[in-house]
Amino acid sequence: MNAQTSSADAVSASARDRVIIFDTTLRDGEQSAGASMTYDEKLQVAELLDAMGVDIIEAGFPIASIGDFEAVSEIARNTQNAVIAGLARAIPADIARCGEAVRHARRPRIHTFVSTSPIHLKYQMNKSLDQVIEIINATVAQARGLVEDVEWSAMDATRTPIDDLCRCVEAAIRCGATTINLPDTVGYATPEEYEAMFRQVIERVPGADKAIFSAHCHDDLGLATANSLAALRGGARQIECTINGLGERAGNASLEEVVMAIRTRADRLPYVTGVKTPMLVQASRLVSAVSGFAVQYNKAIVGKNAFAHESGIHQDGMLKNNETYEIMRPEDVGVRATNLVMGKHSGRHAFKEKLKELGFELGDNAFEDAFRRFKDLADRKKHVYDEDIEALVEDEISSAGE
Ligand code: KIV
Ligand code: ZN
Repeated sequence: MNAQTSSADAVSASARDRVIIFDTTLRDGEQSAGASMTYDEKLQVAELLDAMGVDIIEAGFPIASIGDFEAVSEIARNTQNAVIAGLARAIPADIARCGEAVRHARRPRIHTFVSTSPIHLKYQMNKSLDQVIEIINATVAQARGLVEDVEWSAMDATRTPIDDLCRCVEAAIRCGATTINLPDTVGYATPEEYEAMFRQVIERVPGADKAIFSAHCHDDLGLATANSLAALRGGARQIECTINGLGERAGNASLEEVVMAIRTRADRLPYVTGVKTPMLVQASRLVSAVSGFAVQYNKAIVGKNAFAHESGIHQDGMLKNNETYEIMRPEDVGVRATNLVMGKHSGRHAFKEKLKELGFELGDNAFEDAFRRFKDLADRKKHVYDEDIEALVEDEISSAGE
């Protein structure tokens, strides 16, 4: 079975569970230091996310500012398909403001959270676990009085003792939370731990079958995507992520990585998402432009080099069969074509193809001379452009004619 066809064929569609994609680019993503977006930019991003088939858009944190409230309200009014969520702390005024912001959405959600770990309870909240459970009871019930769809998050879940976490989750479900999010707020968990946490909570909490469980991973150790996928094995069916992995500190799990891992490795990951993957690069470029955060060249899926090959061995393989060095088709993520970059590592095969593409056909000797000159040039110059090769070959042809 080859890599590019394995995804759709290996496990039949009916056997694959639907994973809900919850995009938080406009909330957690915007919390990236220096990434704030204007009202118009947020509307533009939300429109694209909706068109791309994201299930839930977390549009902002309505109590944070008037601008955020207005952006969430407008996105709620305009969005055609996706659920629109707003974030609220476990504070009555936050929840009321959030309810007001999302109420015009076709499908509104209030997402409320409170810390549950001992370190947060002691230093940030100065409260006992029993007091936190009282807060959960009151705030989840308040949110449920405003909307049907309530998500509750246990902030710093991965550093919370499992018994404490189960008590909090039980309270949230009893008071009407329909989605339970167990975030790896500080990006501390390993995939095995994160999977086990979901499995234990789902097994132990009465009524857990009534809720959807959600993963929300930060990338402090570079494990956000792996942890999100591990959560699915533990029973989660919603993944919270952002375009380009934007987010607090080292960022959140990257939407394009999660979605393409599920699509490309369906032989191992029997799930499906509703995301139209050919729009991924467009979304990446838009978010990069509005946030001002450049995408690193070697970023998985959407980086400039994700489908670029420079070494002679790789280029030779690619010219014979794309699957030698590519596990996804570029067009499946919105890249026009594979890019064979001409540089000092390129070999004769790629050089010959490039000449053909530029409309040149050289005899054996002229080809060898041109290839040698190209290698000299590539040693001196970081980027060898088509125009450089054209100039070099034209010079070769005219000197051969003299
Ligand atoms: O990382 C986190 O814990 C959060 C919550 C607000 C869900 O972003
Ligand atoms: Zn977060």
